[in-house]
Amino acid sequence: MTPEINLKTPEIRANPYPTYARLRKESPVVLVKHPLFGKSYYLTRYNDIVSSFTDSRLANDRRNIEGDKDPLDRWWVPSLLRAFKNNMLATDAPDHRRLRDLVHKAFTPRRVEEMKQAVEKIVGELLDAAQKKQTVDLLADFALPLPLTVISEMMGVPEEDRLTFHRQMGGFLDNLSSPVGFLLQTPNAFNMLRFFRKLIRLRQTDPRDDLLTALVLAEEQGDRLSEDELVSMIFLLLLAGHETTVNLIGNGTLALLQHPEQLQKLRENPELIGSAVEELLRYGNPVDQPSPRFAREDIHLEGHVIPRGSTVMLLLASANRDESVFENPDTLDITRKPNRHVAFGMGVHYCLGAPLARLEGTIALQHLVRRFPQMKLAVPEQQLRWRGSIGLRGLKALPLRLS
Ligand code: HEM
Repeated sequence: MTPEINLKTPEIRANPYPTYARLRKESPVVLVKHPLFGKSYYLTRYNDIVSSFTDSRLANDRRNIEGDKDPLDRWWVPSLLRAFKNNMLATDAPDHRRLRDLVHKAFTPRRVEEMKQAVEKIVGELLDAAQKKQTVDLLADFALPLPLTVISEMMGVPEEDRLTFHRQMGGFLDNLSSPVGFLLQTPNAFNMLRFFRKLIRLRQTDPRDDLLTALVLAEEQGDRLSEDELVSMIFLLLLAGHETTVNLIGNGTLALLQHPEQLQKLRENPELIGSAVEELLRYGNPVDQPSPRFAREDIHLEGHVIPRGSTVMLLLASANRDESVFENPDTLDITRKPNRHVAFGMGVHYCLGAPLARLEGTIALQHLVRRFPQMKLAVPEQQLRWRGSIGLRGLKALPLRLS
């Protein structure tokens, strides 16, 4: 096996794909030191990753490995951080199904389709405001406020609180790259917890027709949702609801600007928006790696043994560039068909918000491309910087001139 490697150097963060290509060729299983989970086995090939999504020998909840301790149960991890981990992503059957069933109806394609007009209105207003500026940061001015507003409206988060929780979550995500960074996030985690408890109290006294109220009621009814699970659910939905889609729009816009002939094709053939969004998901990888899995037993894979209890990471961004599945994987082709990307994962944990992310990404990119045929980068490309969030791939800012 390749000696342990560091995937978080600034060079790899700026462009991980040449490294991933080398690993797919030489090291289908590679050891990487994960900031939270320590020595972890990263899988780099599409076929191994796809079969791992449905491999019952892998658990999402470390507590389901007999005799094992969750790393968050270590003595030095502040107990309040544990309140964030009882969510559906970090659970297995039967808890996973119980938690997912509580919210899945709000995210079905039919329910999401009903939100189309509301999303178009938000997009229109954000672009009107952006048009008045000479230079915009596409992320702060457009790609972020869109999903942040949509998920906040669905959940019922008051307008004045939205940027605050985004900053708290962003700080949390971007600073988990070391155990020390993790501990330094304790005050931030404490503030988030206080904020979630405030939201819960608000909907207990002022129930509305929103997801928060439905979840608060489920918790009050007793056996369907515990208090820690309620907090964790709010955390997951608010986080996954905006910190991912911002990267679809941000990375997607950058990829189109880097490939002017594809941008031109999309302008001339707006009906290609559906396959363009799928290709931008594949090419841009808003989620670079999903949540960790844990080996319930020794697993033999590609000539290696992954010992029982190990952490296993599925490198989605590598799978989506695998040459054995995608022809010319490093080429952006907005007409690519078939496009069996794994940007939303697979199996029982398949992204709950995929229909919503697709709707938001489609409307956002459609309107942006149509309204601003002259848009271009406002800084040299080399000056763009990538965030350090674990598992997510997104820019810190995307300065553009729109006209
Ligand atoms: C482009 C945007 C998005 C991408 C690329 C994305 C990607 C993913 C991926 C890869 C997973 C699987 C994680 C795993 O197996 O460990 C996932 C799960 C999940 N996503 Fe998304 N996501 C996006 C948007 C959203 C949105 C808008 C929501 C809305 C709340 C959302 C909510 C969730 C939830 C709740 C799960 C956990 C599902 C489960 O464990 O059953 N996601 N997402």
